[in-house]
Amino acid sequence: MSSSTSELRDQPECWTKGEYVVSTDVSRIPIKTLNTWYAGEEFYWAKPMPESALRETLQNSLCFGLYHDPDQTLSQSVKTPENDALADSTIEFVGFARCVTDYTTFLFLTDVFVLTSLQGRGLGTWLVSCVQEVIETMPYLRRSLLLTRDWKRSVPFYEKVMDMELMVCNPPVDGKDAVGFAIMQRKSWGAPGVGEKP
Ligand SMILES: CC(C)(COP(=O)(O)OP(=O)(O)OC[C@H]1O[C@@H](n2cnc3c(N)ncnc32)[C@H](O)[C@@H]1OP(=O)(O)O)[C@@H](O)C(=O)NCCC(=O)NCCS
Repeated sequence: MSSSTSELRDQPECWTKGEYVVSTDVSRIPIKTLNTWYAGEEFYWAKPMPESALRETLQNSLCFGLYHDPDQTLSQSVKTPENDALADSTIEFVGFARCVTDYTTFLFLTDVFVLTSLQGRGLGTWLVSCVQEVIETMPYLRRSLLLTRDWKRSVPFYEKVMDMELMVCNPPVDGKDAVGFAIMQRKSWGAPGVGEKP
């Protein structure tokens, strides 16, 4: 990693491991494929969205695409036109992670996914390690955060790979002060199960 975090928007970074590449080049991400992933059961926290909205979301995020790239095309920095993501048919989009960040003080990790057929081979660990490598270059970062419902697998996974810790949410009892942070949310229209905006 040579560039500073905000520079990743204009100067994408690549990591290579055998036939796989992680790239922060947002223009590589095949939007239609990502939307089909959002529709899948494993993406229980998301639902598909209009392509224009998804494109804007990606452009406003720090995205990590994971690709099977046997010819190492991506790591040679061969640029394709915007949204002509995988013009080279030998490159397959196989995983994703997205950071919602101001590139300085805060980073929220979401949409972590590896294609089901490739899970369990270390790719998810590597993908998230690349995210963590970027996080560790951010000197003014106050907090990186994520939400998960998968206590059994994901909580130990993020503890191990990103050194994340659980936030303690103990509400006040018997008039005593509360302990730790309150993590708060209000689910809205983009979340599964909430319904469509009237
Ligand atoms: C989470 C995920 C990205 C891990 O990718 P992967 O390529 O299978 O990861 P690895 O092979 O590097 O390692 C697997 C580790 O991830 C853990 N893990 C975390 N969440 C998991 C999940 N939802 N499904 C399977 N394994 C998961 C496994 O327990 C395993 O831990 P171990 O190495 O101690 O055995 C992948 O399983 C996935 O896409 N799951 C569906 C989407 C999801 O749940 N994303 C995370 C939301 S917080």
